[in-house]
Amino acid sequence: MARVLVTRRLPDGGLDPLIGHEIVGPHDDDRPLTATELCAHARECDAIVCLLTDRIDAEVLAAGAAGGRLRVIANVAVGYDNVDVAAARGHGIAVCNTPGVLDETTADLAFALILAAARLASEAEADLRAGRWSGWRITDYLGQDVHGATLGIVGYGRIGRAVARRATGFSMRVLHHTRTDTGEPGWTADLDELLGASDIVSLHVPGGEATRHLLDARRIGLLRPTAVLVNTARGPVVDEAALAEALHAGRLFAAGIDVYEREPEIHPRLLTAPRAVLWPHLGSASQATRLRMATTAAGAVAEILAGGTPTNLVT
Ligand code: GLV
Repeated sequence: MARVLVTRRLPDGGLDPLIGHEIVGPHDDDRPLTATELCAHARECDAIVCLLTDRIDAEVLAAGAAGGRLRVIANVAVGYDNVDVAAARGHGIAVCNTPGVLDETTADLAFALILAAARLASEAEADLRAGRWSGWRITDYLGQDVHGATLGIVGYGRIGRAVARRATGFSMRVLHHTRTDTGEPGWTADLDELLGASDIVSLHVPGGEATRHLLDARRIGLLRPTAVLVNTARGPVVDEAALAEALHAGRLFAAGIDVYEREPEIHPRLLTAPRAVLWPHLGSASQATRLRMATTAAGAVAEILAGGTPTNLVT
């Protein structure tokens, strides 16, 4: 029987694949563990099931290696920018994620943000709730049409493609940018060109150093003043301060944001920015998908502990 740390609460049934193993955690208050707590557990556990709110850095992995037991980190997310994968590889500790189970749910959410931001849903609803809506006016809350618009998808993995499939139902013209040619219609080699050519831009690249501030002030400046920017990928992909300034200055029509540079902190200028739809990292948040994510991560741990090699190995 192996000992498995579960850092945070998971949906009921999420740990079923680990029945028979000793489960440590999660804490009743469901708070992220401190670095000290993570290190202490890493020394004494064979596996860690963690979430994107846990920093599994070099120190935690070194503690696990020093303890001599830690064999696998399973991140209950498709993104794994919170895990120092190189350090894990160095210690021979496997890292797993949950690819393939949340693409459609996250694409649904991205599309909801596209629609909400383009049609100014948040500010219109805020007015209604605050009693500021005095009745229908032909000139009020005039958004941008989504149907027929050009959608620029940045990052064309499973989620980007799932968003593209939805876009065809809205008669959109779809462009996509990836560093290597996909060989598919709409591939745009130059990100700057895609930004300038799109009415709506949706980000679907992984997080991490390589994509940090991919949309910096210069690139945000390339977006059309009528454009809508949507980020359901990772917060640091966008320079949040520059985005907020562009919205305040009216240099960008609207933004739909689900992820933030320093979650759960939100840049104060973004909070007050006009035409910003701000959601709390809801991408994969459907009941079925969150359960599938948990069982996928737990299943990978069970497989590794049994000597197998799961398909969702990152390293
Ligand atoms: C969520 O953000 C994930 O990476 O799964």
